[in-house]
Amino acid sequence: MDKFVIDGGIPLQGAVEISGSKNAALPIMAACLLAPGEYRLENVPLLRDVRTMAHLLRIIGAKVELRDGILWVDTSRADFPEAPYELVKTMRASIYVLGPLLARFGKARVSLPGGCAWGPRPVNLHLKGMEALGARLDLEQGYINARAKKLEGAAIKLDVSSVGATGNIMMAATLAGGITTIENAAEEPEIVNLAEFLKAMGAKISGIGTRILSIEGVPELQPANFRVIPDRIEAGTFLVAGIITGGRVTIRGCVPDHLRDVLAKLEQAGAKIYRESDSITAQTAGPIHPTDVTTAVYPGYPTDMQAQWIALMSLAAGGSVVTDVIYPDRFTHVPELQRLGADIVMKGNSAYIRGVQRLKGAPVMSTDLRASASLVLASLAAEGQSDVLRVYHIDRGYQEIEKKLQILGARIRREDDGKLY
Ligand code: UD1
Repeated sequence: MDKFVIDGGIPLQGAVEISGSKNAALPIMAACLLAPGEYRLENVPLLRDVRTMAHLLRIIGAKVELRDGILWVDTSRADFPEAPYELVKTMRASIYVLGPLLARFGKARVSLPGGCAWGPRPVNLHLKGMEALGARLDLEQGYINARAKKLEGAAIKLDVSSVGATGNIMMAATLAGGITTIENAAEEPEIVNLAEFLKAMGAKISGIGTRILSIEGVPELQPANFRVIPDRIEAGTFLVAGIITGGRVTIRGCVPDHLRDVLAKLEQAGAKIYRESDSITAQTAGPIHPTDVTTAVYPGYPTDMQAQWIALMSLAAGGSVVTDVIYPDRFTHVPELQRLGADIVMKGNSAYIRGVQRLKGAPVMSTDLRASASLVLASLAAEGQSDVLRVYHIDRGYQEIEKKLQILGARIRREDDGKLY
């Protein structure tokens, strides 16, 4: 299993290109199941999760190929509407095929995702949405068996604003009879990107980027070519890398507007931020100011940047509180950050952080994707050597993170730790 060996304490300097968004690419790949034919998807990041989705599409009968940096998906022969447990258990976003399969084939058999490393992650809203559109669902051997002769539009109100449920229901509704409205819909840029892709395929969707989406079903959709948006979480992670190491980092090929709240927090934390149309520079300007953060749905501070913020605040000149209201259990990085010398006390879903003058290198273990990112950040700032174990988590969501960090001057290398588990 791979690990990162990091010699910390070097201020990062320079510029890196941001890759395409994982959380936009995954539902867009699933949406290719809605209409048979060939799709050309640009700016799809080369990640483990993308490979897992490609594998799933192949099981369903699609052809998926990467040629010249472009992902070609051919769903002409897709005919097996099933998502097996073996894949769903490794990537919960596999549930995104449920809506498209049901809409195109009138049936789907999708393994129910279990819990996640850091707590429960229900899919009840996805299922309620499909039922509201007229699907009959049964649970059998851990699989959702879904059937519908024809989906019919419905007025759906989500109890909580869910990215995944919004995307799944929106995809299913594109081919339903009549109009579907989704109230309390997610406004995240990844959902906007998915909606734009569906429109390019011929879907009729209004209210994109607002809390109420309206989808008028059409009899059929056509394949489309599309470009995935840049990854705002990767972008935010690299900006924090610049500031936590006392350096200056430019990220290129990003959408600054998608990072508004993260940039505001970085400025509050004392960083100088320079925005251009598609690039951002974060420069250290003195000590890190303690800055509280509470996660929220977009355009608020993203839960996917919570772990990285705790790493940053571990080195702030004072105390701060980081609260996660989206995923209250998502704090497995905290005990690992403590191994590096961070002073953090957990109370419920809040981390009380007292900034320390320095972190010290240690072996630490990744437990999930964003937790791993926070451990890499803290290790880059820590004195001495850190080994970040089980980096397969980080490979799920960051394309060649060690190479990008090396461009910025970081001393980080990938090694096989010789262990199978
Ligand atoms: C997506 C992102 C993930 C991010 C999260 C929140 C992808 C592949 N993943 O996950 O990186 O952290 O958005 O921005 O895009 N909920 C329910 N029932 C449901 C679904 C969700 O109660 O059926 C709750 C969740 O427990 C959570 C909240 O809704 O408290 C938001 O979750 P959701 O937006 O659905 O997250 P995901 O789509 O799974």
